[in-house]
Amino acid sequence: MTLSNGSTQRISRRKMIQMSSVVVTALTQANLQAAAPVDEKELIFRTTEPRNGEPDLADLIKSWLTPTKYFYVRSHAPNPVIDADNFRLTIDGMVERTQSLSLKQLKQLPEHTITATLTCAGNRRAEFNSEKAVGGVQWGSAAIGNATWTGVALADVLKLAGLKSEVKHICFEGLDQVEEGSHTIGFGASIPVEKAIKSEEGLGALLVYKMNGEQLTADHGYPLRTVVPGYIGARSVKWLGKITASDRPSLNHFIATAYKLVRETGALDWEEAAPIYRYVINAAIGSIAENSVLKPGPLTVSGYVLPSGRADALVKQVMVSADMGKTWQPAQLQGQQSRYCWQLWQVTVDITTETKQLWVRANDNQGGFMPYRTPWNAKGYMQNSWFKLPVSVQ
Ligand code: MTE
Repeated sequence: MTLSNGSTQRISRRKMIQMSSVVVTALTQANLQAAAPVDEKELIFRTTEPRNGEPDLADLIKSWLTPTKYFYVRSHAPNPVIDADNFRLTIDGMVERTQSLSLKQLKQLPEHTITATLTCAGNRRAEFNSEKAVGGVQWGSAAIGNATWTGVALADVLKLAGLKSEVKHICFEGLDQVEEGSHTIGFGASIPVEKAIKSEEGLGALLVYKMNGEQLTADHGYPLRTVVPGYIGARSVKWLGKITASDRPSLNHFIATAYKLVRETGALDWEEAAPIYRYVINAAIGSIAENSVLKPGPLTVSGYVLPSGRADALVKQVMVSADMGKTWQPAQLQGQQSRYCWQLWQVTVDITTETKQLWVRANDNQGGFMPYRTPWNAKGYMQNSWFKLPVSVQ
């Protein structure tokens, strides 16, 4: 065995087994709670290796705050097992003082709790297939959730390191190991420095260690993740290990190439397209499943609506039609209207023997609207066409 001072010592095989079991027990205890996966029954897993699951829409719209068990999971690689006691967050790049912070040190900074909706850029991806097949996780409409997030302001962490004046982007890197081409990389992202350092509570990014008041689960990034309100989920890096201040966006695959809107996937197409940052306005019906058999007469339907990810975007209107757009009913927005959060809505529509589909469209006060049809793109991102639910009436 090699000791920490570099010298070697003969240790009996029995002693060795005893020692390794102590290490394993310590690691296992430290990670046991976080490593416990969410109850598989609560999510519909589109893939299990890695874990990609979304809840049933009817469960999702039961409450404005999404219980963690119903919160979608989107991972590109297996959950890394991280020993929180020895965990360090590195802050390097164009900074005055490189930092290596333990969780305890991070938690000494002022704590903030915000409520924010997270949504995957691939939410509703499967709907693109009717035009032309798209690869990737075949998400329905439930890769979205609204939770409370507790942690420290990224701005405060960056202050400890001291940003140099040339810094334009803040890059994040996760501790997971994603197979990408011939090598393995940590999942990464970057955000413009203005977004990173906005200090008004809830506007900038947070480094989060609690979700819905409980320690983060392994699926959601234990022990530390970023949450960037208003941006697609891919910018909220889980299992965060490193922050780098830079004068350019990260070169990590998941921002330099993936998570862009392209029709073709040639090198130039990727190069020319800009990374997606903000999410778009979106809405869905959750109270009725696809192809439900309905009776003629009044029917109350409900769902969610998310305003676009601009700082002051709030939902203006949700409209629902049961006659292919001939007439529209305004839905009632329910519960809190809060920056960077979805809202639930409800409306009673008249179902007739002519009803074939229920349609939903929405707009917000910042000019965001759901288009009749979202242009097809090769990776199936940002699907926010009018939501059209096929039903039959008997
Ligand atoms: N961070 C790491 N390290 N690895 C990942 O695979 N997936 C991203 C983001 N952060 C990912 C990640 C994507 S695409 C989304 S939509 C969100 O995490 C999902 O967060 P959730 O699983 O907590 O819902």
